[in-house]
Amino acid sequence: MNILFINGSPNKNGNTAALAKELLKGKTYETLNLTDYKIYSYGQQFKEDQLDEVISAMKAADVVVMGSPLYWHNICGSVRNVLDRFYGLVENGELRGRKLYFLFQGASPEKWILGIIRMKLRKDLRERC
Ligand SMILES: Cc1cc2nc3c(=O)[nH]c(=O)nc-3n(C[C@H](O)[C@H](O)[C@H](O)COP(=O)(O)O)c2cc1C
Repeated sequence: MNILFINGSPNKNGNTAALAKELLKGKTYETLNLTDYKIYSYGQQFKEDQLDEVISAMKAADVVVMGSPLYWHNICGSVRNVLDRFYGLVENGELRGRKLYFLFQGASPEKWILGIIRMKLRKDLRERC
């Protein structure tokens, strides 16, 4: 089983990576740091954009764990961009069949944030992946 951890934090060895390490203890997994990739906002079109590389890595995995530090009570920008860019792309079922998990790391997380994020992810992704 191929497990891919996608780290949305700019800190490759920061708290988000540490949480993933704990969560995936005893399992072999690859890490993809979004900070190494140019992923523009939905609608922007630049030839150096690297979303395709991230999607290819996701396709090669059976399980994808997407980790985000909490920024302003929400998902960080890099993960947000990837999710926004799923729009249209994943609708045709390209990533169907994979398990997708999210983990969130915050300095002082509050429970209500999870409610909001869960609702958002369910609406945006459940029907599409
Ligand atoms: C711009 C910014 C906004 C943040 N907002 C929150 C927040 O709303 N809630 C929270 O719990 N932590 C917040 N934090 C703290 C980070 O989520 C926390 O330090 C996290 O552990 C960083 O993960 P990393 O070490 O993987 O980068 C914020 C940090 C930054 C840089």
